[in-house]
Amino acid sequence: MVDKISKVISLAKRRGFIFPSSEIYGGLGSFYDFGPLGVEMKNNIKKAWWNEMTKNQENIVGLDSAILMSPKIWQASGHLTAGFADELVECKKCHKRFKEDDIKKKICPECGGKLTKPKKFNLMMKTFIGPLENKNSQIYLRAETCQGIFVNFLNILNSQRLKVPFGVCQAGKAFRNEITPKNFIFRTREFEQMEMEWFCHPKEAEKYFNYWKKERFKWYFDLGIKKENLRIRQVPQKELPHYAKKAVDIEYKFPWGWGELEAIHNRGDWDLSNHSRFSGEDLRYVDELRSSSPSLRSVVDETTKEGYFPYVIETSGGIDRSFLAFLSDAYSEIKGGRTKTTESTKEIEILLKLHKKLAPIKVAVLPLVRNKLELVKKAKEVYQLLKPHFVCQYDEMGSIGRRYRRLDEIGVPLTLTIDFESLKQDDLTIRERDTMKQKRVKISDLIEVLKEKLR
Ligand code: GAP
Repeated sequence: MVDKISKVISLAKRRGFIFPSSEIYGGLGSFYDFGPLGVEMKNNIKKAWWNEMTKNQENIVGLDSAILMSPKIWQASGHLTAGFADELVECKKCHKRFKEDDIKKKICPECGGKLTKPKKFNLMMKTFIGPLENKNSQIYLRAETCQGIFVNFLNILNSQRLKVPFGVCQAGKAFRNEITPKNFIFRTREFEQMEMEWFCHPKEAEKYFNYWKKERFKWYFDLGIKKENLRIRQVPQKELPHYAKKAVDIEYKFPWGWGELEAIHNRGDWDLSNHSRFSGEDLRYVDELRSSSPSLRSVVDETTKEGYFPYVIETSGGIDRSFLAFLSDAYSEIKGGRTKTTESTKEIEILLKLHKKLAPIKVAVLPLVRNKLELVKKAKEVYQLLKPHFVCQYDEMGSIGRRYRRLDEIGVPLTLTIDFESLKQDDLTIRERDTMKQKRVKISDLIEVLKEKLR
């Protein structure tokens, strides 16, 4: 199974999904760039999530806040003070630092030197604003996107005339100075999160915690992750992050073992009450019996007039981690080959069974052969016709079997072939990636047929 991750990494590099960052300079440990196919797929994941939150669910609005924010925010959120730190030991000889848990013998694993006692090492990444580099100009790259949501709570509430319960979602970069980044894009220092903060009455927090746990699990499943590779893990009290009253993780069975994809937290009123205290702004919500939820109307009575801090149920997923899960889950190898049209059927064929919503390229257009001008001309016309509607690729290089295999390997759901019949009948053959079923379709009906198939 460990071998599988090497194969996935190799495919990701070879076919332009993910490249090691700064590679021509020897790379920069655990930073990655998303290539031409990677960026399409990552955008598809974000779009699927954004649609889920803002269209399929009720009462959720979006936000895109700044990465750099007032350092006071991180004081209030507890990220500079409380638990957002790893315990590290340092080698007295080579000065390398390690997580104590990772050290089996009580000596430096690099040089055998003696180790210091464990010290807290904060994970916030620092930078400076303005020309002076000192304590006053020091700020932090956000470690979680949700703080931008909490500090905009009043702006969003008032500008959108929202009523509890409601949600705010945001996807974007986050940074953590991880001590042990590992497993390809699973744990890196620069990554993307997709977070939704659901503001609700404290008495309804448990109900929504359960609701979001189920919804978020279903989202991964609906996008094609096999059920046996997904599970929910209750986070024990001693492992809870400093802001959470309760948490579960949605985990995926990565090639090296189970790992967290997304966390569902009950953050209580940790964030709103602390930001109220630190900023001096009253972030309590005054209901005025204007709640939209009938069930809530019965529980909010005495708390409504003077206001209360809504509880927050958070769904916090990693975009890079789900990218890796979708890619690993979709990766399959077929020994002996399934493409009968190729001479190399004894080879192993790679099939990337990505969900059609996530596939970076939706349709490929192929002339049967490339040395017949009429076929090439017709195929290029079809390509031009489809390009404004779908992410599309034109491919004329190599035998038709080879081309199918190249396209299967990057998960293109539909392949269109123009043959000699097409010239007479103004039609083409649609081939489906997973079943290899083929069907002739009139070019005049093509856009509608493809829209239907890719919906
Ligand atoms: N706002 C809550 C929060 O940030 P978290 O459990 O620390 O919670 C949420 O992070 C998700 O962000 C994780 O489930 C994971 O998918 C992703 N994540 C966290 N640290 C990461 C890292 N170093 N590299 C890649 N993804 C990371």
